Amino acid sequence: MYTQAMDTKDGDDVKAVRSAEEMQLQQRFDARIDAGDFIEAKDWMPENYRKTLLRQISQHAHSEIVGMLPEGNWISRAPTLKRKTILLAKVQDEAGHGLYLYAAAETLGTSRDQMIDALHSGRAKYSSIFNYPTLTWADMGTIGWLVDGAAIMNQVPICRCSFAPYARAMIRICREESFHQRQGFEALLTMMRNGTDAQKAMVQDAVNRWWWPCLMMFGPPDDQSPNSAQSMRWGIKRVSNDELRQKFIDAAVEQAKVLGVTLPDPELRWNEEREHWDHGPIDWDEFKRVIAGDGPCNRERLSARVKAWEDGAWVREAALAHAGKQATAKEAA
Ligand SMILES: [Fe+2]
Ligand SMILES: [Fe+2]
Repeated sequence: MYTQAMDTKDGDDVKAVRSAEEMQLQQRFDARIDAGDFIEAKDWMPENYRKTLLRQISQHAHSEIVGMLPEGNWISRAPTLKRKTILLAKVQDEAGHGLYLYAAAETLGTSRDQMIDALHSGRAKYSSIFNYPTLTWADMGTIGWLVDGAAIMNQVPICRCSFAPYARAMIRICREESFHQRQGFEALLTMMRNGTDAQKAMVQDAVNRWWWPCLMMFGPPDDQSPNSAQSMRWGIKRVSNDELRQKFIDAAVEQAKVLGVTLPDPELRWNEEREHWDHGPIDWDEFKRVIAGDGPCNRERLSARVKAWEDGAWVREAALAHAGKQATAKEAA
């Protein structure tokens, strides 16, 4: 997903387009966007387009990397070798997603170190969903089914994003997210079909805890998402938050029936007229609290990231020293 927090402003100070040359470049850029062309990193782009993308892609990258933590916590406690192998592969995929995205963001002129620093100092956001705890094994299946499921809904339209490096990264990421969603659903189905009563109750409890935070992954309602219209105009965002959320709910209701779990929303009912499932109110105060840093695991997640960065300092130093030696040897040759 992980694009929900991307509407947060960081004091944009967009310069007015002044020179005739800039106006011409702007017109050419607008025409290319209107024609559905892709923009490459070396092409001219308005400063605010660059900033918006940089914020969105780097925050998406942070979400992938922080998203490894809640599941990484369960690798050593997976119930079978098969489940451990699958979970390990999934968590490694998320690391790869982070790397593709950091690389795409770097093409916009910000270094990896600057992005990591923004995350560690709390200036950059990541998806609110990763600030919730993973209490039981059923959380692993539920994250795959619902969190990766919501991520797919959010990310498939980004494969057509106007900024080509982001679109290319997303195509590969979406293929892997599809595996993530399926493995989660299959893990839950196994427990619901063959499990004990206690295991079935564990699945239901996990679904109860993750359902509402998953709906928040799509970001605030359209009428409270002020930057969405501009992102739509630029072809960065293709489908609105509310539309994506509805699509996710409609799909999840049917999947929940197959699993035999109940979604924790008494107001969930089919609306003949709209041909969609109506749902109850989402607690946007909780969303704001978690985004602002006061969710159940915000501090734990950030400190785990900072510790990993500090523990890895010797690797970066060794790599730099090696690269330096190689460069000197090349010069001498
Ligand atoms: Fe991912
Ligand atoms: Fe994933």
